[in-house]
Amino acid sequence: MSAEISSPDTVRPIIWHDDRLRLLDQRLLPGMVEYLDFGNAADVAKAINQMVVRGAPAIGITAAYGVVLAARAAYRKDPEEWRTALQSDLDTLAQSRPTAVNLHWALQRMQSLFNKIKGNPEPALLREALTIHEEDIAANRHMGALGAALIADCRQVLTHCNTGSLATGGYGTALGVIRSAWQAGTLEMVYASETRPWLQGARLTAWELQQDNIPVTLIADSAAGFLLSRGKVKWVVVGADRIAANGDIANKIGTYGLAVAARHHGVQMMVVAPASTFDLQTMTGADIPIEDRGPDEILRCAGKPTAPEGIAAWNPVFDITPAALIDVIVTEKGVIHRPDRHKIAAIIQ
Ligand code: MRU
Repeated sequence: MSAEISSPDTVRPIIWHDDRLRLLDQRLLPGMVEYLDFGNAADVAKAINQMVVRGAPAIGITAAYGVVLAARAAYRKDPEEWRTALQSDLDTLAQSRPTAVNLHWALQRMQSLFNKIKGNPEPALLREALTIHEEDIAANRHMGALGAALIADCRQVLTHCNTGSLATGGYGTALGVIRSAWQAGTLEMVYASETRPWLQGARLTAWELQQDNIPVTLIADSAAGFLLSRGKVKWVVVGADRIAANGDIANKIGTYGLAVAARHHGVQMMVVAPASTFDLQTMTGADIPIEDRGPDEILRCAGKPTAPEGIAAWNPVFDITPAALIDVIVTEKGVIHRPDRHKIAAIIQ
């Protein structure tokens, strides 16, 4: 085993530093590694909306730190009525992106402390945000071990989007499983799909795996079906932005097509997501809001037009994969084979 294999997790997208929130600007990767500092909640919400930070668990953690900044400003404005004063910041954070339920989960968890706090809310809220952040990394490591055990006989996997340290507090969900399998010495190589139009696979997953010396081969999204038909890849391993009560999942656009192709070719489909990604109030995938980021991401690449001026484009950035196409969901609370409403309810409260 090489020295690199023993430390495969070096990237951290979210850092609380010097009383401010520091985010790795993912819009600039892989060309530039630059952190931006944030001192107020409105700017944090804008950073989530504009994808400075992205990935469901990372959005939730960032929003939790956003609540700390909102509470600081509200307490300075009105030490008695800070709970009322921060309400508009909470609403702005909640509306920053629609699909990842981790955002609402984190905001609710922070809000559930409000009534227990006496005096300045910042220390208690910061402790909670740091705990959410640490728990996410711990959950990812645990899911990594659970998922890696399931793919122990698999030399190559395909992943989609970026589900790594960049998309979480650290370590990653689907990419955490891949890290763990690499570390265990069972996995030889990862195929990453480019993930048009924002190129999370090409720009982020390829960069993150390269930082940690995990071999990666990039494919165009349109090559995935052919890859699966060749029989070398036995598992597709992806994350999720929201999992409905019946096990349908919302994830990056293209996941559904991968699941259909995987089932057709006898390839197994693994979804890796922490409990904070489950939304048991939402009964099926049909009820999950899907973000549409507008035509520009389709019509331009790095600012340059890639289609004729004036053409229409549709850009839903997530899709729904029905539970019936998922072989296993890996959570930190355990593994759910052939997920359905009852198995999910038994594991996720
Ligand atoms: O639009 P993004 O980049 O925020 O979408 C991210 C994804 O779809 C990920 O697959 C998902 O959040 C799981 S990440 C651990």
